[in-house]
Amino acid sequence: MNTLFTGHNFIDLPQAGSTNSVAHDLLSSHPAEGTVIRARHQTGGRGQKGAQWHAEPGQNLTLSVIYYPTFLPANRAFDLSRMASLALWHCLRSALPEASVAIKWPNDLLVNGRKIAGILIENQVSGPFLSSAIIGIGLNVNQELFPESQYKKATSLRVITGHEWEADEVMHSLLQQLEGQYLGLRSQRIAALESAYLSHLLGYQETIAVRIGAEVQQRHLVGVDVQGRLALAREGQLDYYDIKEAEVII
Ligand code: BTN
Repeated sequence: MNTLFTGHNFIDLPQAGSTNSVAHDLLSSHPAEGTVIRARHQTGGRGQKGAQWHAEPGQNLTLSVIYYPTFLPANRAFDLSRMASLALWHCLRSALPEASVAIKWPNDLLVNGRKIAGILIENQVSGPFLSSAIIGIGLNVNQELFPESQYKKATSLRVITGHEWEADEVMHSLLQQLEGQYLGLRSQRIAALESAYLSHLLGYQETIAVRIGAEVQQRHLVGVDVQGRLALAREGQLDYYDIKEAEVII
């Protein structure tokens, strides 16, 4: 590993239900900061908003990283989403220099308009600060076919480039980026983190289609607040939505 500590404790499982759940069970033994749990075959992958995360066995990256961001107030937990999204953005940008790589709020990674990776962060809180965080990442590497529900919406490195990728190499690049972003956050480089996140955010300062409740509306994407809520403007009025309330439509 080309990192200071991330992935030095590496738990490589042939099969697991959800790597985030494995990481959660490990927390009581206080594993080293940067412990990585990777499953070659994840059978019960969990996604945002209670969704499932499907990955063909042996084809993709499904992993979780344990950090101890005890410096981060619980009401700033979204900074972890920003930094993990940026890590994936840089990893994908260096793998795919020609492609259009974007973050779809709050933390989906799109390449050429299709989802290639998702992030599920689960935090543990102690008083006003976080005590630990599990950063779960699913990145489509070599999967070529996707279930019908994701057909036209999902992609992988292989689909984009037409050749197979060495998943371990992609993982090393990802973990290096993740650690770099995490160290930036730990050094309180918050303004840089916020502006980098916005600069790669799909639809930033544009009018976009957003599903709000059952309705699809055209709104101007003004930004994302400290809590991670999407700030949308319409007719001089600014409204904030959390992940359960709004979805950016691609
Ligand atoms: C999403 O886009 O809905 C988030 C998907 C997150 C999937 C990853 S795969 C590794 C880790 N373990 C899980 O159960 N989920 C995350």
